[in-house]
Amino acid sequence: MILAIDQGTTSTRAIAFEVSPEGAFHAVAVSQIELAQHFPHSGWVEHDAAEIWRATLQTCREVVRKAGGVGRFAAIGITNQRETSVIWDAATGEPLHRAIVWQDRRTAEATGKLAAEGHEAAVQAATGLILDPYFSASKYAWLLDAVPGARERAARGEVKLGTIDAWLIWKLTGGNSHVTDATNASRTSLMDLQTRAWRSDLCDLFGVPMQALPEIRDCDALLGEADPSLLGRALPIHGSAGDQHAALVGHGALTAGDAKITYGTGAFLVANVGAAPVASTSRLLGTLGYAASGEAAYALEGSIFSAGSAIQWLRDGLKVLSDSRQSEAVAQSLTDNGGVYLVPGFTGLGAPWWEPEARGTVVGLTRDSGPAHMVRAALESLAYQTRDLLDALTKDGAPPLKRLKVDGGVTANAFAMQFVADICEVEVERPAFQEMTAMGAARLAAYGVGLTEALWTAPAEAPAVWTPRMGAEERARLLRGWRGAVRAAIIAAQ
Ligand code: G3P
Repeated sequence: MILAIDQGTTSTRAIAFEVSPEGAFHAVAVSQIELAQHFPHSGWVEHDAAEIWRATLQTCREVVRKAGGVGRFAAIGITNQRETSVIWDAATGEPLHRAIVWQDRRTAEATGKLAAEGHEAAVQAATGLILDPYFSASKYAWLLDAVPGARERAARGEVKLGTIDAWLIWKLTGGNSHVTDATNASRTSLMDLQTRAWRSDLCDLFGVPMQALPEIRDCDALLGEADPSLLGRALPIHGSAGDQHAALVGHGALTAGDAKITYGTGAFLVANVGAAPVASTSRLLGTLGYAASGEAAYALEGSIFSAGSAIQWLRDGLKVLSDSRQSEAVAQSLTDNGGVYLVPGFTGLGAPWWEPEARGTVVGLTRDSGPAHMVRAALESLAYQTRDLLDALTKDGAPPLKRLKVDGGVTANAFAMQFVADICEVEVERPAFQEMTAMGAARLAAYGVGLTEALWTAPAEAPAVWTPRMGAEERARLLRGWRGAVRAAIIAAQ
């Protein structure tokens, strides 16, 4: 068995996967704990890294117990929310500040200043990433400035920085490994995408001492050994990837032209472009697909900041739903969207717009508009945003898409999935087993530790498929409405 840890934005989960000799993966035990979100100022989002660690240990222990004891496990695989930045004391292993979450916009001014000074082209050429507060580098610099003495102590190796994977590896190994995997490192703005090594010029540009950063390894490498006192045995940590990269592996989107989108808190389209990075001219991100056994697959990514969180907002903020699952029936109670569009820019707009100051915008309200229109507009926004990303991919000359593989909570909503197929003019495929992120981490770990010979084998269960059926005229009309709404959101931000 493989113990997969999936540390996401809203919860921490551990899943035990049984691996058959033929390479089939079956989840046999799961444990999950919700994670508190802290919003100290407008546009700021923080997590307590100590709480993340406690939840990780608790869920791992529970799953190990449910699955019949630690003796049944061969390795640990980790996958995590990316970019979220942690600072901790090397001696005590305690966080020195709350972690700054990927959605946090507090460093918009700092990255805007670097862009105004003309650094964006060089940063993009080296890392594939644009200048935006989303990525870790400006968050690390902010943390080093905010914690008294941290800069000096970091230069002496007394203070460590890392994304959530590095934090968990540090804690799991009792402080023996300060290690990250190349996919997580590819989200910091500090790693050279081609060589997969930290760049000193970028560390200098952002003001992050390289001594404080973890060592970069492949996703299937040995990343450390879990301290035996934690789970009862010294399990090797043999797989790690940022959640979107892990999902790419989980879906088996391993060759050029394969693409997946995960609809979680945000939505992340990752399209495999093959063995060399592709430079985007339409504001997509160049990123690593995965790196295993010394070989890398590159990807273009479109990151949407609010997807499932728009449905959560309908439930918790607007209170028009008591359960997210009602959204399908509520949306279908209308024959069309009534001209109402919701641009869910709650934490700014991501790809391809990159407007950190944009906020949620609703257009097209009439006296007829009601709660159902808001629900429908939120679900439809998933498809429109996906379409914007696919158009950007086409402009960038990415290999033609075979099918769009989907996962994440919202994919249980058949109305939303049919709408994605219709608006994007692409076949949408949802695997029978939905936990693609944890599955990817488990596959990397199983492959790394030698339990399987291939990184991916096709599952036996058939996927669900949605085929486009909307007429071209209707699609064009809806897309015109959406583009007007996005323009309104961007103008309001300026
Ligand atoms: O880039 C952020 C992403 O990795 C977070 O994913 O699933 O926690 O919303 P998720």
